[in-house]
Amino acid sequence: MQSSSRQVQSSQRGVHPGLPALVRRHQQHAWQKPTQQVDVPALRAVDTALTAHEGPVVLDSYCGTGQSTARLCKRYPDALVIGVDKSSHRLDRHPALPKNGLLLQAHCEAVWRHLVERQTRLLAHKILYPNPWPKPGHLSRRVHGHPAFPLLLALGGDLELRSNWQLYVEEFGVALSLLGHPSRVAIVPSDDEALTLFEEKYRNSGHELWSLSAPMVSSRQGIAV
Ligand SMILES: C[S@@+](CC[C@H](N)C(=O)[O-])C[C@H]1O[C@@H](n2cnc3c(N)ncnc32)[C@H](O)[C@@H]1O
Repeated sequence: MQSSSRQVQSSQRGVHPGLPALVRRHQQHAWQKPTQQVDVPALRAVDTALTAHEGPVVLDSYCGTGQSTARLCKRYPDALVIGVDKSSHRLDRHPALPKNGLLLQAHCEAVWRHLVERQTRLLAHKILYPNPWPKPGHLSRRVHGHPAFPLLLALGGDLELRSNWQLYVEEFGVALSLLGHPSRVAIVPSDDEALTLFEEKYRNSGHELWSLSAPMVSSRQGIAV
C-alpha cells in the first residue's frame, strides 16, 4: 500500500559546523545528569535480568512499540534483547515478545550509563529511526549531539543506526569518527525485512532508508564516564 509520509525537511545542508566542538566537549566532560526517578524501575529490571542471564546482550534503543525488539529476539535467540523507549503509550502497543525479550520504559541515555557502570558489553546495538530533530538548532537533541553519546563507545557491540534522513546518518558517522570509530553507510536493500513500524511507513512512502554500521570496540578509553 502506498502512503505519503513527508521527507525530512531541514534548512541544514551538510554536517552541522558545530558538531566537532560539541562532540569533543562531551568526550571531555561526562554526562552528569542525576538518574531520574522515572527511570529507576527500569534500571532495577536491567539488574534482575542480567543477574539471571549470563549470555550475550542486544540493545534496541528508542524501540517505539517494540516491533524490532520482537524481531531481534528471533535473530539473536541466545541473547537477552532489551528494548527501551520512554513512551508508555508506544510500549503499550507492543507485539507478543519471545522469552528472551525485555521491554523497558526509560530514557535510553540512563540505561546506557547504567550498563556502562555495570561493565556490560553488548553483542549488538540498534538505534532505529530516532527522532530527526531537523532544525540546525536541534543538534544537541540528536543522538550524536547528546552529552551521553560517548557512552555508546563503551557499550561496544555491532552498532547499527537507521534513518530516512541521509544527513542524520552521515552526521552520526562523522561524530563517531571524531571519537576514533570508523563506520559504513549504505542504503537498506528494499527486500530486507522491515524491522520497525517507521521503517515500514517510510518504505511505503518510497523513501530511501539509510543504515550506518560500526563495529564498536568495547572500550572505556578516551571518554569521561
Ligand atoms: C521516530 S520513533 C521510532 C520508533 C521505532 N524505533 C520505530 O522505528 O518504529 C522515536 C522513538 O524514540 C522515543 N524516544 C525519544 N527520545 C527518547 C529517549 N531519550 N529515551 C527513550 N526513548 C526516546 C520516542 O518515544 C519514540 O518512540
